[in-house]
Amino acid sequence: MSTAKLIINDKEFEFPVFEGSEHELAIDVAKLRSATGAIAYDPGYGNTGSCMSSITYIDGDQGILRYRGYPIEQLAEKSTFVEVAYLLINGRLPNADELDKFNKRLIKHVMVHEDIKKLFEAYPPSAHPMAVMSAMAISLSAFHPDLLDPEIIDTNIMRLLAKFKTLAAFCYKKSVGQPYVYPRSDLSYSEDFLHMMFALPTEPYHVNPVVARALDLLLVLHADHEQNCSASTVRMVGSSQANVFASVAAGVNALWGPLHGGANQEVIMMLEEIQHDGGDVQKYVNLAKDKNSKFRLMGFGHRVYKNFDPRAKILAKAADDVLNALHVTDPLLDIARGLEDAALHDDYFVERKLYPNVDFYSGIIYRALGIPTNMFTVMFALGRLPGWIAQWKEMHNDPATRINRPRQIYTGETVRDYTPIDQR
Ligand code: SDX
Repeated sequence: MSTAKLIINDKEFEFPVFEGSEHELAIDVAKLRSATGAIAYDPGYGNTGSCMSSITYIDGDQGILRYRGYPIEQLAEKSTFVEVAYLLINGRLPNADELDKFNKRLIKHVMVHEDIKKLFEAYPPSAHPMAVMSAMAISLSAFHPDLLDPEIIDTNIMRLLAKFKTLAAFCYKKSVGQPYVYPRSDLSYSEDFLHMMFALPTEPYHVNPVVARALDLLLVLHADHEQNCSASTVRMVGSSQANVFASVAAGVNALWGPLHGGANQEVIMMLEEIQHDGGDVQKYVNLAKDKNSKFRLMGFGHRVYKNFDPRAKILAKAADDVLNALHVTDPLLDIARGLEDAALHDDYFVERKLYPNVDFYSGIIYRALGIPTNMFTVMFALGRLPGWIAQWKEMHNDPATRINRPRQIYTGETVRDYTPIDQR
């Protein structure tokens, strides 16, 4: 084991350095404050490891993403969302019998308690689906109260994984004033979601296999991404021994932010603004570079990837494939391509290693699948759910887990006495 030396006020301290399975190095500062009296300061945690995890590996410089060691490119091409969910949550790919049993458990738990429909009725049609989905996730804990019984945790994980899809479709149906469509056991996960979203009582709805496959690909690509903002939130909340429903509800809220999962909705709104403004992509590239403007190129940049986000590469090709297969043209795709090309040839973006991320093309595909823009981040949450669950389960089962409680550097007033109001 190597060490790192730190000198504070001429006093030398040594801290252990350890290596991950991909040879990343970490300085173990768990005893930093007790040894030195000082804390490490890392706003945004860009240089801080919050945990050890065996779920997902990202190499941001090489543009590598692997779920439990399997390259995202192989899983995108060969796997399915349900199989990837099993992989993330259980740590290995299932055999045929295990996958069949997992599917059957998802089908068993896919219905929601009829009383949950009353919760939807309380929301105005204009409610943002992410607000509703966060409330529905935590509300599941009210219908399944054995929250931390070790015998029940696995069942609650399957309940959450199964019901979130139904709740998401119900959320959409409520927002458009259409009757809820109940799940069907004869359809695959993605087929069933599309059926619940778009079927109407007036005519039979046949799921287009191209659409179902494209949706499954999108869900696979969003399934986990190590310690991103929402996964860290799930771990943070779960570290107090809050149950999986409460922890995931917190993750839904974190994902909603436009700098995180909310970016996929922002990208489409940005592309529509550029389209309505005449399609001058260079104007918006220049705006994104202007420090005086609040404008950012949504769907560009990443805290970890300083190379292409491998998911964006896959989605850029899938956008063409899906639109061609559906005989759909979307002017926003041409604008996106122009924007990407302009940015990738601009020193500002090149110097800062700002590339398209997972959110840049996903919205184009969701549009082609008929998903409304305000549901895009719900689709991200649907995909990320098995990752959140896997992260929560790894944290919950780790005996070394302590409640997450960061420190701070206080910069406020030093001690002062209270003054009576007539003396202020
Ligand atoms: C996701 O963490 C994950 O893994 C997230 C995610 C997942 O799967 O969970 O991958 C999903 O959230 C993808 C990111 C979606 N968000 C967006 O597309 C929003 C636009 N992107 C940016 O806001 C930004 O790039 C972030 C939030 C993604 C990353 O922010 P950082 O790491 O804090 O970077 P930063 O803001 O410090 O930027 C560094 C520099 C700054 O310029 P300088 O101060 O050096 O001059 O790059 C600039 C920034 O101004 N910059 C951008 C930019 N992103 C960064 N300038 C213009 N447009 C952008 N999009």
